[in-house]
Parts: sequence; structure tokens; C-alpha cells
Amino acid sequence: MPALRESRPPLPRPKGTLPRLEGADRPDSLASFAKLAVRILSRLRRQWRPLGRVSLAELSREMLARLDTGQSYESNSDLVLAGRLQESLEAATDVHDNRFAARRYYDLVRPILATVPRSRIEGATVVDLGCGSLNPFAFSFLFLMLGAERAYAIDVDPVQDMRRAVKALSTCALWFLIDSRRILGPDRVCPEEVLGNLRGFDLPKLAAGDPAGLAPDRLLYRSELVFDLSLADGEADIVFSVSFLEHVPRIEEALEALRRVTRIGGYGHHLIDFADHRIYDGTVASPFEYLKLRTTDELLYGTNRIPCRQFCELFERHGFAVERVEAAQTAKLSSDEHARFAEPYRSMPREDFETVARGSWCVADSSGIGLPGRAHPRDE
Ligand SMILES: C[S@@+](CC[C@H](N)C(=O)[O-])C[C@H]1O[C@@H](n2cnc3c(N)ncnc32)[C@H](O)[C@@H]1O
Repeated sequence: MPALRESRPPLPRPKGTLPRLEGADRPDSLASFAKLAVRILSRLRRQWRPLGRVSLAELSREMLARLDTGQSYESNSDLVLAGRLQESLEAATDVHDNRFAARRYYDLVRPILATVPRSRIEGATVVDLGCGSLNPFAFSFLFLMLGAERAYAIDVDPVQDMRRAVKALSTCALWFLIDSRRILGPDRVCPEEVLGNLRGFDLPKLAAGDPAGLAPDRLLYRSELVFDLSLADGEADIVFSVSFLEHVPRIEEALEALRRVTRIGGYGHHLIDFADHRIYDGTVASPFEYLKLRTTDELLYGTNRIPCRQFCELFERHGFAVERVEAAQTAKLSSDEHARFAEPYRSMPREDFETVARGSWCVADSSGIGLPGRAHPRDE
């Protein structure tokens, strides 16, 4: 197989992309001439970068575009190279932030199983509130494979790519059937049990991305707002949410809806990201930055800025008992930075904010109590 050359030829320059000296672009002063020259030079630099300096994202976009237009690998050695690339890509994308990665589900499901006993999941109706639009069914599906009877995946945003969302479930099934420890760690589930729990699903159809492979009475997708949930009173045994509650305005109304649909003795498990979400695109460096801004807006940069302790109080006020709160990571908040917070955050104890870190969540487990709703057969 030929070795890859170290110095690669430059990417071909796209045609007709140099700025043209017309209209508003025509240099009528030295300053505008200099500006135009800088623009041309920086464009040339971008276009004539050596391949080694092109980012992985740009290369991936280019490869995708070529494959989408029907270009293919030709020789056997090209195919071997492509196979190696496929493997490396799988490893490189098995990270928490990838909505389709095993690593993400390992990170999300393991702490749940540490607090929610498997016996609570068996036969349960579970809800994934704010399931997202990218991979909306996977979380629900994992709990169905763990023995839940029915799962509702709920989000106001429509599914972005239904074929991909359905296909992702066959990958989840493979994880569980081949080696469930990849997702569950020591809480593994045996393949025979998984097969039994997959009743109603058609795996070849799921693998083909065909929604007809979904078991419609077991995995139900609802595109609706948390305030208008179509579930019956007390229908849910367990309500999960991941990076959802921090995005909700009118939080009291949302928690009231959660309480309505959770049965007496039911359970909630909520992962809440308390960080300023602008850290994810690098706009700010501190996860506390948004707490320094004074505004009466309910949502700021997409989040409600409700701190962990206040969330617990709100849960309690709406009929839940908060059983456990856990921080996956902590971030140090200096007294100087705390002093720059806007009210009411400045008057809150500094420690209240330190369970906040980039890419981490606080976990609030809450049991529904004192709520009129149907009793679960196990509790009768
Ligand atoms: C950050 S995403 C998290 C998605 C998913 N849980 C995940 O971990 O990938 C938050 C989701 O909550 C949904 N959402 C926000 N407010 C909502 C509301 N009031 N009712 C229903 N869904 C809502 C959004 O559409 C979005 O898909």
C-alpha cells in the first residue's frame, strides 16, 4: 500500500471567487484600497492553504460532499484506507457531546442506574422530556431494552432526520446485544433479556431507517410543549430529562405539568446544566458569566439561570421530594468573580454555584408525592 505523503498538494482553488473591482468595492481612497488588498490576500491564504492546515471539519465536509455526489473509493488499497478511516472516525466521535455516541449514553445512563433500581424500570412507563431533535428516541429505547413497557419521547422541536433517528436505534440494540457493559457498566443485561424487551420492534427495519420498524404502542413520539403534555394524569412512572429544565421558561408551570403526569410514588431524574451555555461556542470563558448580567428576561442565552438550590425548592413546592442532588463536576468560583454577579445571585452563597461546570450536570432525583393519580400495581 503506498505510504501517505507528508507534504500534500494544495486544495484546488475554487473558480471565480476572487472579489471583483466593481461598484462599492472600487477603491476610491488609499484606505479602501488597502482594505481590499487585505481581503484579497486573506482569501488567497485561505484558498491556498496546504492540505495539512485544513481543519478536520473542513476535510470532513469536503469528503461528505464528494461521497454524496457519488464519488467512490476505487482500488483495494483505497478501500483499506477508507476502512481505517471509518474505524478512526468511530473512535474519535465516541465522545459525550456526540448525540449518537455510546460514550454519551454510558455517561447518562450509569448515574441513573446508580439511583433508580432496575426493578422500578421493569414494566414502567417512562418519559424522556425534551428528548431533542437529533437523536430523539435513543434514550427512551435504552430504557425499553432495560425492561420498561412504554416510553414517551417528547420535544417541541420536530425530528431533524427521521431515517437517521430510527437507524440509531438499531445501533443501540447492537450495543446491548453484543456487550451491554459498554453502556451499563457492571449493571449489564443479558442478550436474551434484551431480545425479549425488544418485542414489537423490527430490527432490520430499524437498521434500514424505516419508521415502520418502531413498536407504535411502546415507543411514542409526541411533539408538544411541556406545558401541554398529552399524557394522562399519573401516567408516567419515571420522568427523565437531560439538559432540558434549564431551557424552560415559566418553570413553575412546567413543574406543575410534570407533577400532573407523574403517578404517586413515581420518580423523576433530571440532569440540569447550570453553566452559561455560551461557553460551548467559546463566546465566554466562565460558566458563571451570565450571572453577571442584569435582566428581567426569563431566558438569557436560551437558559433560565435558576440555580440548583432554587430548583430543589421549586420541585419541593410542586409536590416532589428531592431525594438526591449530585454534581458530576465542580467549578471554582472566586470571591472576586462572585462579587461581580448581578442580584439576586450575588446575595446567594458562593457554594451554591460551585457545583456548576462546563459539560457537567447536577442531578436531581425526585419522587412524586401527594399527587392525585393512579397508583402503580407494584405499590398496591
Ligand atoms: C439542549 S436540548 C437537549 C436535548 C436532549 N435531551 C439531549 O440531551 O440531547 C433541549 C431540548 O428541549 C426542548 N425544549 C425546550 N423547551 C421546551 C418546552 N417548553 N417544551 C418541550 N420541549 C422543549 C428543545 O426543543 C430541545 O430539543
